[in-house]
Amino acid sequence: MLCLLRSDELVFFVNGKKVIEKNADPEVTLLTLLRKNLGLTGTKYACGRGGCGACTVMVSKCDPVSKKIRHFSITSCLVPICSLYGAAVTTVEGVGSIKTKLHPVQERIAKSHGTQCGFCTPGMVMSMYTLLRNHPQPSEEQLMEALGGNLCRCTGYRPILESGKTFCMESNGCEQKGTGKCCCDPGENASPSHSGDVPISTELFTQDEFQPLDPTQELIFPPELLRMAENPEKRTLAFHGERVTWISPGTLEDLLELKAKHPEAPLVLGNTSLGPAMKSQGHFHPVLLSPARISELSVVSKTSDGLTIGAGCSLAQVKDILAESISELPEEKTQTYRALLKHLKSLAGQQIRNMASLGGHIISRPCYSDLNPILAVGNATLNLLSEAGTRQIPLDEHFLAGSASADLKPEEILESVYIPHSQKWEFVSAFRQAQCQQNALADVNAGMRVLLKGDTDTIEDLSIAYGGLGAATVSAHKSCRQLQGRHWNQLMLDEACRLLLEEVSLPGSAPGGRVEFKRTLVVSFFFKFYLEVLQKLKKLAKLSSDRLQYHEVSDLSLSALEDFSVTVPQGVQRYQSVDSCQPLQDPVGRPIMHLSALKHATGEAIFCDDIPRVDKELFMALLISTRAHAKIISIDLSKALELPGVVDVITAKDIPGTNGTEDDKLLAVDEVLCVGQVICAVAAETDVQAKRAIENIKITYEDLEPVIFTIEDAIKHNSFLCPEKKLEQGNIKEAFEKVDQIVEGEVHVGGQEHFYMETQRVLVIPKTEDKELDIYVSTQDPAHVQKTVSSTLNIPINRITCHVKRVGGGFGGKVGKPAVFGAIAAAGAIKTGHPIRLVLDREDDMLITGGRHPLFGKYKVGFMNNGRIKALDIECFINGGCTLDDSEQVTEFLILKLENAYKIRNLRFRGRACMTNLPSNTAFRGYGFPQGTLVTESCITAVAAKCGLLPEKVREKNMYKTVDKTIYKQAFSPETLRQCWNECLDKSSFHSRRKQVEEFNKKNYWKKKGIAIIPMKFSVGFGATSYHQAAALVHIYTDGSVLVTHGGNELGQGIHTKMLQVASRELKIPMSYIHTCETSTATVPNTIATAASIGSDVNGRAVQNACQTLLKRLEPIIKKNPEGSWEDWIEAAFEQRISLSATGYFRGYKAFMDWEKGEGDPFPYYVYGAACSEVEIDCLTGAHKKIRTDIVMDACCSLNPAIDIGQIEGSFIQGMGLYTTEELKYSPEGVLYSRGPDEYKVPTIVDVPEEFNVSLLPSSQTPLTIYSSKGLGESGMFLGSSVFFAITDAVATARRERDIAEDFTVKSPATPEWVRMACADRFTEMIPRDDPRTFKPWSIPVA
Ligand SMILES: Cc1cc2nc3c(=O)[nH]c(=O)nc-3n(C[C@H](O)[C@H](O)[C@H](O)COP(=O)(O)OP(=O)(O)OC[C@H]3O[C@@H](n4cnc5c(N)ncnc54)[C@H](O)[C@@H]3O)c2cc1C
Ligand code: FES
Ligand code: FES
Repeated sequence: MLCLLRSDELVFFVNGKKVIEKNADPEVTLLTLLRKNLGLTGTKYACGRGGCGACTVMVSKCDPVSKKIRHFSITSCLVPICSLYGAAVTTVEGVGSIKTKLHPVQERIAKSHGTQCGFCTPGMVMSMYTLLRNHPQPSEEQLMEALGGNLCRCTGYRPILESGKTFCMESNGCEQKGTGKCCCDPGENASPSHSGDVPISTELFTQDEFQPLDPTQELIFPPELLRMAENPEKRTLAFHGERVTWISPGTLEDLLELKAKHPEAPLVLGNTSLGPAMKSQGHFHPVLLSPARISELSVVSKTSDGLTIGAGCSLAQVKDILAESISELPEEKTQTYRALLKHLKSLAGQQIRNMASLGGHIISRPCYSDLNPILAVGNATLNLLSEAGTRQIPLDEHFLAGSASADLKPEEILESVYIPHSQKWEFVSAFRQAQCQQNALADVNAGMRVLLKGDTDTIEDLSIAYGGLGAATVSAHKSCRQLQGRHWNQLMLDEACRLLLEEVSLPGSAPGGRVEFKRTLVVSFFFKFYLEVLQKLKKLAKLSSDRLQYHEVSDLSLSALEDFSVTVPQGVQRYQSVDSCQPLQDPVGRPIMHLSALKHATGEAIFCDDIPRVDKELFMALLISTRAHAKIISIDLSKALELPGVVDVITAKDIPGTNGTEDDKLLAVDEVLCVGQVICAVAAETDVQAKRAIENIKITYEDLEPVIFTIEDAIKHNSFLCPEKKLEQGNIKEAFEKVDQIVEGEVHVGGQEHFYMETQRVLVIPKTEDKELDIYVSTQDPAHVQKTVSSTLNIPINRITCHVKRVGGGFGGKVGKPAVFGAIAAAGAIKTGHPIRLVLDREDDMLITGGRHPLFGKYKVGFMNNGRIKALDIECFINGGCTLDDSEQVTEFLILKLENAYKIRNLRFRGRACMTNLPSNTAFRGYGFPQGTLVTESCITAVAAKCGLLPEKVREKNMYKTVDKTIYKQAFSPETLRQCWNECLDKSSFHSRRKQVEEFNKKNYWKKKGIAIIPMKFSVGFGATSYHQAAALVHIYTDGSVLVTHGGNELGQGIHTKMLQVASRELKIPMSYIHTCETSTATVPNTIATAASIGSDVNGRAVQNACQTLLKRLEPIIKKNPEGSWEDWIEAAFEQRISLSATGYFRGYKAFMDWEKGEGDPFPYYVYGAACSEVEIDCLTGAHKKIRTDIVMDACCSLNPAIDIGQIEGSFIQGMGLYTTEELKYSPEGVLYSRGPDEYKVPTIVDVPEEFNVSLLPSSQTPLTIYSSKGLGESGMFLGSSVFFAITDAVATARRERDIAEDFTVKSPATPEWVRMACADRFTEMIPRDDPRTFKPWSIPVA
């Protein structure tokens, strides 16, 4: 009899230390335990859904049968602690530390500049560390695979990969040109080590100083756990939580008995399906059964006719098992295994594959399952077990549809899966298309199998199953049956497409949307299968008797076959080395490592939510509106207030001062304007209690009209946030009359989520005296938080101190919004008298905070036949959301920057911000430029198409050539712009590659290459003089150490590192003497947001000013004792009562804009650049691969080339995300669907261009900025559009070839859906189209 009354002790190890949980709660995850109970805050929370890798740790387990120890990476946010019985967990703290000893992985990621904000770094370290535990000298492919599940929003991945490559087996060079030579080899490198007289360096770090990896030094597997594994506990263990009981039987018999007793209880294996469903969809299971200790579920057996794989095997193990069988068996027997293996490579990231089990995957039957369609067509069988005995059921369409008669009985479990070998004349293929290549759920996938009658092309048996098309995997059995007996030829193909489209129909309103794309994929995949089989027949025909007749595939069509493979990116970074005369101590211009890099890599860097719990701290959760526009009739708090742990609820009535502004309330009063608006907040003892209370607050709404979501509707309703902004020059009316041609077009650019890895967080600590408050907040603008809290609480600003140690990514999203959360938390702290911690979940963060403004642009362009543009009229509308926020300034910047690099005499630019019932959009890197300038560049591309010219020719023809004035009459010289353009053309070998692309396109019908080069003139700064100021405070202590504080915030952009470089140069002391602790409103008051690319510029000047003041004071002492040391001078200064503390101030650039006159000097200077990208698209699926990108950027005299190149690469990749994969989806009711990494795809490591080169233009001078450096925070973002234009170039080629109009509507992002549908062909023609008036779409476009 099983005793389940009392909890057993849960025993496992963390970093070599034993953890005994006497009352383990099954609802607690490993991430929570590490961070909250064990204080191991190196492991980060960023999504909670297994989709980002920030919480990666290594788990080691001893296999009871083989006695081998298995190390694998997992995402700790999905791991219930109860599943860890007998396991050893290693976190980033267990790998190494600054205090004891760094691990080579940590040292190398830091020194290779693989960290910026550092929030993703511990996860990256753990993924690499686990790889090295298993493969001390991995291949580069293994490295890519290991990092595939880790997102980084800052670096662009290149330096992370670079650090990992230092452990890899020697590769034979980058082989980027197919020559086997490396791009760094002499002769292959377009740039010599000297460019003219300028010494050029391509080394950002030196490998020589790296410690070697010594695998013998790793933490050993705890002997106690070994003993436990040798004598496994056979007893059933039970852990009772507050609401859930976890039962872990020790034997199969007990498991079956328990399953009979608790038929409703799920089996928890990887928890990757159950966990997210419990968290986000409210699924609740009072009893969970864990078969983790049942070795019978992990047995693998091979027979002469197939493979039987235990249901408990992880998908990573399944991958290895299949690979082994493929290597052992003849090809004809392994068709199904190959198809499964193909999908296993792209299914999720490594961590999920390590956790997820085969059984869990099959039984959870997600509609997007990558494996079930293949298993179904491969005739897999499920071996079931219960107390009554064993039973087999087919894994067929009935099982997949969840039909009761074909399903497991409640008391049964899945023991194993039998997958038969394929046979001769049998062909199996797998297809999938997702938003991006890896770590993305498929939009549609498919398994297809055909058995041909021996030595013929006649179909004996055919099965096809699709995923992603409905609630479950669907089988096209009727079509397949009808096709039996048919020859495998063109006629069959046509008939099959017709039948398939009829059978697997998808309604226009289908959840997930992308309906026409999905319908097209149904037939496109079959076409690919058709060709694949023909190719295999061709191969067989060579071996077989000459009886075999088959249809030949034309050479042009062969291009439909190959899928894009994952390639390890390579590249070169070029920058100007410092002058050989520069003193060694002077770090300016050198690639100095980010100050916090080592701390990021060891998890010792403290982010806001890593601050230990303070006494009496409460946790806050927010209640947000579920209606887009409604009156709040009532708020019923009674149930929530009764719940355990709940201390109080804060509503608008509790705000002692001002509740935001009239139009933008902190907490809603009687009306809500969007889904996601904050209504009230709960303060409770724990986060779980606060979130439960939120679910128990009842709001009664009354819907209001109008409800506007789209720009189109806003225009119709005349719903705008501010007046139109307009700039005009010349006379466009007249100019349009004199041109050869006129083209009009539209451009739609979707919004973008910041997706900073660290969500919004704040900790407010009320002090006991004088109403003082300490606020620790993740913000780009602490002074704004301070001011907002002051007005909210009605207390003077001087009582509030905001502290910012570091921010886990901002990108503009932490300029305005943190003040809202800071003020609500502060109101809670004042009302309850307790410290308040507020940490937004990823879902809430994405829902509440808004992001980049979606844009709709219309252009009319008049030009001569030679491509010279004479008149351009652009009108842009941005979707501002429900409140003004930054929308007016974004509109202004958009208009000011629209001309980009082009001199067009007659121009009219107009812009308006639409008011809609969406969360308010806000600042985002580039601030309108990346959206607006896409319209300009699209217009240029359209002109080129009309003139029959290449786009680069039209760009060049219209580019600024000499000193000139912009549309707003600001004078500038385009010399550096042209230099960047020419160098980029040269470095990328553009013209010869353009020819190669053309050659390729002639030979390939289904794959097309595209190439584009884009110039950039980006103006930095805020456009207002008062924003261009900064202050610093520098103290020298009596031991000679120096403390520098300034008004800039560390967001990952390395501002503190640069400030110390400045101080080091000015004070002429090594950087090691200098420290910076945090940004605080108490040390440097009245600061400006760290934004607009000028943080380092203005703060650098302030630090310089303070240091110069100090040095001046020290001068007499130094003069008196020139041979003395720094310490001597400081000691003497102290003795002589010379102040060793100074403030520094930079009065900043003048900037103004007179909108009445359309004239001004709004920006201090420009950053110029150019990028060339080449891509290849798959016209049948819409997928693309990035072949190569070359960027040339004008950084002037870079303060720190490693940091600046990091900014360029990171922003380029973020821009590439904006223009290719990052798609926000809204419901017709205005609810944002894409609220996590599973639905919103930011670029992953496999999205980095295969060759990615960045060059900083050899220095020019700009007298304005600190040491003639330029701010590079934002500009690279727009260069990501070169990928977009390369894709549209490829699409245009495909359309030309198919005789379709080339002037298609430009839409960003260029998702696979857009690419596929734009490459119209006979398959897109055959799909049924719905009349839009007959159904309600799943999502609506808001741009
Ligand atoms: C971030 C992320 C990305 C993903 N990406 C992909 C992807 O690209 N493609 C894809 O196809 N899938 C993807 N998935 C889904 C993933 O494949 C499944 O969640 C996973 O395979 C489920 O396995 P599990 O062991 O975690 O199941 P669990 O969550 O532990 O269990 C799931 C269900 O299976 C039942 N069950 C488990 N084992 C047995 C058994 N032996 N007998 C009876 N019932 C059993 C349980 O009762 C439960 O109901 C992703 C998941 C995540 C979290
Ligand atoms: S926080 Fe765990 S994967 Fe994102
Ligand atoms: S450094 Fe990777 S997310 Fe910031």
